[in-house]
Amino acid sequence: MPESAQPETPILVSPAAPESPVTFPPAFLWGAATSAYQIEGAVREDGRTPSIWDTFSHTPGKTAGGETGDIAVDHYHRYREDVAMMADLGLTAYRFSVSWSRVQPTGRGPAVQVGLDFYRRLVDELLQHGITPAITLYHWDLPQELEDAGGWPERDTAYRFAEYAQIVGEALGDRVEHWITLNEPWCSAFLGYGSGVHAPGRTDPAASLRAAHHLNLAHGLGTSALRSVMPTRNEVAISLNSSVVRPLSQDPADVAAARKIDDLANGVFHGPILHGAYPKSLFEATRSVTDWSYVQDGDLEVIHQPLNALGLNYYTPTLVSAADPKLGGPRADGHGASEHSPWPASADVAFHQTPGDRTEMGWSVDPSGLHELIMRYTREAPGLPIYITENGAAYDDKPAADGTVHDPERIAYLRGHLAAVRRAITDGADVRGYFLWSLMDNFEWAYGYEKRFGAVYVDYTTLERTPKSSARWYERAARTGVLPEVDAR
Ligand code: FCB
Repeated sequence: MPESAQPETPILVSPAAPESPVTFPPAFLWGAATSAYQIEGAVREDGRTPSIWDTFSHTPGKTAGGETGDIAVDHYHRYREDVAMMADLGLTAYRFSVSWSRVQPTGRGPAVQVGLDFYRRLVDELLQHGITPAITLYHWDLPQELEDAGGWPERDTAYRFAEYAQIVGEALGDRVEHWITLNEPWCSAFLGYGSGVHAPGRTDPAASLRAAHHLNLAHGLGTSALRSVMPTRNEVAISLNSSVVRPLSQDPADVAAARKIDDLANGVFHGPILHGAYPKSLFEATRSVTDWSYVQDGDLEVIHQPLNALGLNYYTPTLVSAADPKLGGPRADGHGASEHSPWPASADVAFHQTPGDRTEMGWSVDPSGLHELIMRYTREAPGLPIYITENGAAYDDKPAADGTVHDPERIAYLRGHLAAVRRAITDGADVRGYFLWSLMDNFEWAYGYEKRFGAVYVDYTTLERTPKSSARWYERAARTGVLPEVDAR
């Protein structure tokens, strides 16, 4: 059993509004993000094999309307026009993920060059347009063959990930400086193996905690593998959907509930990755589910190695109290909302709707949470540069008669959150860039195509792309380094 440590993480009160105009440092990266399964399509081309998301989305009842990523927005074939569009929108960075089963179809063994070639061409296209690429190695699409061998609850999957990381690092390390090992391992572990609302759809509490540990191990092994083959100037990071967990009241029972969820949401990853130990309180909270005996000697050293940066994905805060059956059921989709708690041993915690305006996902709009999160990790990991690797909102966007798509709510969301980032920089945080989720409308996992997160509208019949007014607003921010007013088009 590893030694435990839990840092003190006081909750900050959000400070006053920023000065106007809101101006960013010249080197700040103005990016947008996507992931392979959500945009690429071409699922059976050039040797790609099914990932757990192909299997899951093709299983009746798992996604809204039975929708799949078979075609998605056909980025695999349209990447050139998509990169040209990014350049037209003034983006200076682009975060995308590599499909593991496109480059290593069985999840082990030699790489498929034609699969890697797609990413080589994409990266070269980006560089030619002056756009900085940021690669995520794993955005939830485990090759199905590895799931059949046990998936993330099996230790071997972490070693397979390291092998895959080395392959991609060797192929692209000469031209990509920004690397992210995993996207939101919380979702892979707890939504994939706990609540089962994400692929592979298992509902096994003990397996979800084993998966969490092996994802941490994969991050550590993958970081070493990347560093063994890449130039030292390259940055290695991880993207976490760390939760801003707030207690409903200052009642000690509610505060204790918030601490418990903070361990299950944040401590389980930040503990080993940033501090070299799982929180002792996490072991206590999960004692009835697992004994953590799969944490082997030396694992924590592998996981806890210096990173070059931390990626934070933020959408909305989480509000909890001690359970009270009268107050309604738990929520959990990784961003503070949904029907089933994915956490083992959290039956004594109730999750609540946070106040304020809500997006189409039902998530409340609360930029103060982003500021709070950045400041927390500025204290927890001093000196580590931070990137906001995802932030954005889904709205029910509809083209007007003239074909334009006006989305003032998204503009307000982006402005509010970017202003919160700027406040954090003023308060001493080293935030180097922001990646809007998402570049364009895409396959929103279990929600299929019904939730539109894009700054660019996609007509799913013609696959035509139309920048929404938020994309033009963001372009002005990116080109000037100053946030335009909300009503500026
Ligand atoms: C994050 C995912 C991303 C997208 C957004 C809305 O959890 O990383 O793929 O689904 O939420």
